[in-house]
Amino acid sequence: MLALAGGLGKLLLLAWLLAPSQGQANDAVRAGRAMFLGETALLARLATQQQALAATASRCINCHSAPGLRPATGTAPVPSASTSNSTRNGAGASPASYGPALNSAALLQPQARRGGPPSRYDAASLCRVLRDGVDPAGVMLNPAMPRYGVDDVQCRQLWTLLTSDL
Ligand code: HEC
Repeated sequence: MLALAGGLGKLLLLAWLLAPSQGQANDAVRAGRAMFLGETALLARLATQQQALAATASRCINCHSAPGLRPATGTAPVPSASTSNSTRNGAGASPASYGPALNSAALLQPQARRGGPPSRYDAASLCRVLRDGVDPAGVMLNPAMPRYGVDDVQCRQLWTLLTSDL
């Protein structure tokens, strides 16, 4: 009986310990989504210019789909996953300014990107690609992808959203 109560106590403790982190993950997904949709403006510029981009021009959803997020029909620049090819995660047949679909498979599975050796993202390399346009293999992105003045917290929130597959 005592052992049972002890076990139950441990379970309750575990539930209590897990609950806040789950809540924090949801908060991060929400914050990441707001940035992805441009509801929270990010500091951004074109790779070739110092001038800041308007929030409507720099929002990720203009060029990428992400877990649970697709550009509205009519303005949709990103092809659906069914049209994806193995090299560009869905951006294969689309105009140059449209980016690949962003989700856990695209980011976490090692794959050759832009002719570099196979690479995968983690939270730190996502920050680097957003800030400097350099991918995990050290290859520079096409200048169509803007450069973002994101801080560590914002990067982490975008990372949580993009790998959440919600
Ligand atoms: C104006 C269009 C545009 C916007 C806005 C944009 N991107 Fe991109 N993004 C691109 C293009 C185009 C590429 C592909 C570049 C290449 O392959 O060289 C890309 C590539 C990426 C990659 C690299 C994927 C890989 O497989 O290496 C990530 C990550 C990414 N974008 C995240 C974001 C996030 C997050 C935002 C918003 C904060 C954003 N992008 C906004 C156009 C855009």
